[in-house]
Amino acid sequence: MAFDLPLVIGHRGARAVKTENTLEAFDYACRSGVKWVELDAMMSSDGQVMVFHDETLDRMCSNAKGRLDSFTAKELRSFKMPNGTRIPYLSEVLELLNEYGASVNVEIKPSKSSLAHETARRVWETVREKGFDDPARLLFSSFEWAALEETFALAPHIRRGVLVEDVSPDWRPAAKKVEAFSINYDADLLTPELAKEILDSGYRLLAYTVNDADRIRELLSWGVEAFFCDSPAEMSAELSR
Ligand code: G3P
Ligand code: MG
Repeated sequence: MAFDLPLVIGHRGARAVKTENTLEAFDYACRSGVKWVELDAMMSSDGQVMVFHDETLDRMCSNAKGRLDSFTAKELRSFKMPNGTRIPYLSEVLELLNEYGASVNVEIKPSKSSLAHETARRVWETVREKGFDDPARLLFSSFEWAALEETFALAPHIRRGVLVEDVSPDWRPAAKKVEAFSINYDADLLTPELAKEILDSGYRLLAYTVNDADRIRELLSWGVEAFFCDSPAEMSAELSR
């Protein structure tokens, strides 16, 4: 099965241009020619998969505060985000991406560690319902590696990326356990030696979040293959100049 990773992945859609993780952001990215987008998938209190990054609503919503997982999906839908946007369901975003034939990195973001398996299960159910269970167009990733264990059990044919940040424990056993496709590393923490080790271990290497073309060129020389960018269309254009 062909799997063409792009150079640039639209981070939360195109978060430097449109309100992050909204239908508007994904629509804008796709209309701009972006082929792959990344989104964050988190569960409401009644088990619906919403597309949202933070554990709390405080940063993004003007008429609500508190933990996302303390509200039902219906309640979450009534909260306002910048430019009149709303928190989308994962199902809606997948429908939109289907219209464009776009591909997606679904970052499974359990609102707490104890919800890792359930969040992954709900994500997988939604993906299947929407006909997005296509290994050529879908990559799962998570900082909560237990979520990747769940997707490995449920859908071993869908590739898995182990997300690594500064507070992460050693990623090596986790990557082996879930037979990871890629290591998705914080660009600020990468070194040439680490990149080499990851590639020599047989994993592909992705880096987040990079918004500087010269830095992308440097990381490319280390073997990083794809980059999460906040202005994906603009970055693609700059890199091709
Ligand atoms: O998946 C790449 C990136 O989105 C990971 O960090 O915090 O933006 O979800 P974050
Ligand atoms: Mg993310």
